Formats: sequence, C-alpha cells, structure tokens
Amino acid sequence: PDPRAHASRLLAWYDRHRRDLPWRAAPGERADPYRVWLSEIMLQQTTVVTVGGYFDAFLRRWPTVRDLAAAPLDSVLHAWQGLGYYARARNLHACAQAVVERHGGVFPDDLEALNALPGVGGYTAAAIAAIAFDRQASAVDGNVERVIARLHALETPLPDVKPAIRILAERLVPATRPGDYAQAMMDLGATVCTPRAPRCVLCPLIDMCAGRRLGVAEVLPRRRAK
Ligand code: ADE
Repeated sequence: PDPRAHASRLLAWYDRHRRDLPWRAAPGERADPYRVWLSEIMLQQTTVVTVGGYFDAFLRRWPTVRDLAAAPLDSVLHAWQGLGYYARARNLHACAQAVVERHGGVFPDDLEALNALPGVGGYTAAAIAAIAFDRQASAVDGNVERVIARLHALETPLPDVKPAIRILAERLVPATRPGDYAQAMMDLGATVCTPRAPRCVLCPLIDMCAGRRLGVAEVLPRRRAK
C-alpha cells in the first residue's frame, strides 16, 4: 500500500472506531507514560478485558511511578495475582525503581533509554515512544504482524517472515499522529483483522490489501510446520 493513503485511511477509521480503553488519553491528548508503560506490561500475554480491572486497581493504589517504586515488592506481587508470569511483576517493580533512579521519576522518551529498562523489550519501548511521546516508532506485536503479513500477502511462514514484517511495518509509520497510528494498528488487528474469520468488509484498508485481493488473508501469516 501507499504509506500516505494507508495511514490516512487507518487514522480516519480510528477516529470513528477507537476503543475507549482505561489507559488511553482523550482524543487529541497525550497519554501519561506511566499509564502506557503499565498497560503494555500488563497486556503481554493477557487480554484487554482481564487487564482492565487490574490496571485501575494498580493506578488507584500507586498513582505515579514513584509510588510504585516505593512499594514493597511483596505488595506488588500480591496485587499482580491472577495476571500470571510473576517475572513480569518483578520486572515491573524493578523498572519503576530504575525510572526513579536513572531518570528522576520521569519516563525517558527515546527508544534506547526505554529499551534499557527492566522488562522493556523492543516492542514495549516502541509502544511507549509512539503512544506516550508521539514518536515515529514502529510497535509490532502479534496483532500488527498479522495485519502487515496480510496487507502485503507475505507467504513466508513465521518466524522467518519477522524481519520482512518489521521493515514493511516501519515504512508505513506516518510522521503525523504516530501514536494514534500505533494504536489504530493494534485495534484493527484485535477487532477487524482477527486471526480467524477476519471482518474484511469492515476494514478501512480492504482495497489496499494484497492478502484480500489474492484470497489468502484468512490463512496469513503462515507458521512453519514443526
Ligand atoms: N495491545 C497492546 N497494547 C495495546 C494498546 N495500547 N491498545 C490496544 N491493544 C493493545
């Protein structure tokens, strides 16, 4: 797809259909980096529905990254109960402390410093840079991988196709509203370009989707046989 047409189409769709999620800022406003970071860590391997209640409870109890950093680890692990993968909760606490110690309690806005934080990998660093700071960063999770693989009709199976997806995804990130763009791609993957039975008739990108044109959208991305 032509990057400009792709982004403008997707952003127009997002303006009408954006999901109202607890960590999102009001339209036109920038989200609090602490909220973005907390939600992204919670959303790793956990669904949006499950995360909702935990997210609100954490914010009520620890409204700022300084509050979370000062909390006893035990209380954070206890509050995490039910979200699974306790390493994430330990890293969460360590990350809050690192933000306080290294950055004076203010989340850094560049990929390199974000990446160096405990529990923050390439995807999460890009998501925070884009959503919280409106940086032109490419946040590619499983949902976005699927959208890109379909848009370009990439037939190479996962995981081999990942480097190609990365490059193509980066090329599509617009200079205007990159934060909304990142979340629009996530929403499109979660609600329209779903793993099974994608709702192509509702898709704002239907006429620029090679997967759809070739009749293979539904089966992409392929996985390497084990
Ligand atoms: N999945 C992971 N991060 C998300 C976000 N910011 N919005 C919607 N879905 C997501």
